[in-house]
Amino acid sequence: MFTTHSLSGDKAEQYAQLARQAQALVAGEHDRIANAANLSALVYHALPRLNWVGFYFFDGHELVVGPFQGLPACIRIPLDKGVCGAAARSGDTQRVPDVNAFDGHVACDSASRSELVVPLFRNDALVGVFDLDSPDLDRFDVTDQRGLEELARIYVRSLG
Ligand code: SME
Repeated sequence: MFTTHSLSGDKAEQYAQLARQAQALVAGEHDRIANAANLSALVYHALPRLNWVGFYFFDGHELVVGPFQGLPACIRIPLDKGVCGAAARSGDTQRVPDVNAFDGHVACDSASRSELVVPLFRNDALVGVFDLDSPDLDRFDVTDQRGLEELARIYVRSLG
C-alpha cells in the first residue's frame, strides 16, 4: 500500500523528498505505462495548484497521450504543435508562464493558465514528454523546473 507523506521544508527540500518517493515508487519496475501512471498520480496529489499531470509518448510520428491525472486530454499532438511539441522538438524544457501568450499552445483543459513540459530522452531517442498544467498564471518557477526535471530523469532511468 502506498501511504502519502506530506512534503515539508522549502520548495527545493520538498522536491528532494518527492524525488525519493518517486524513486521508491518505480524501484524494480521497468514498465513505462506503470511507472508513468504512478508518477502522474504521485505528483498530482503531492503538488498544489495543478489541474493536469501526465505523459505523452512519441510513437515515431507524433505525441500520443499516456497515463495522466486530470480531465480527459487531447489524444495526439504533432511535433510542430503546442508546448509539448516544442519540448519534444527542441529537447529543452518549456516553462510557459501564460499559455495564452504561447504561439501554438494546444488547449485541452480551458482551466490551464501556465504549463511546464519536460522532454524525455533515452539514449538520445525521444521517448515523449512529461507535462504539467496549472490553473494559475506563472505557477512554475526555476525550482519547480529543476525538481520536475529530476523526476523526469528518475522516470527515464526506470525504463532500464
Ligand atoms: N497544452 C499542451 C497540450 C497538452 S495538455 O496541456 C494536457 C500543449 O500545448 O502542447
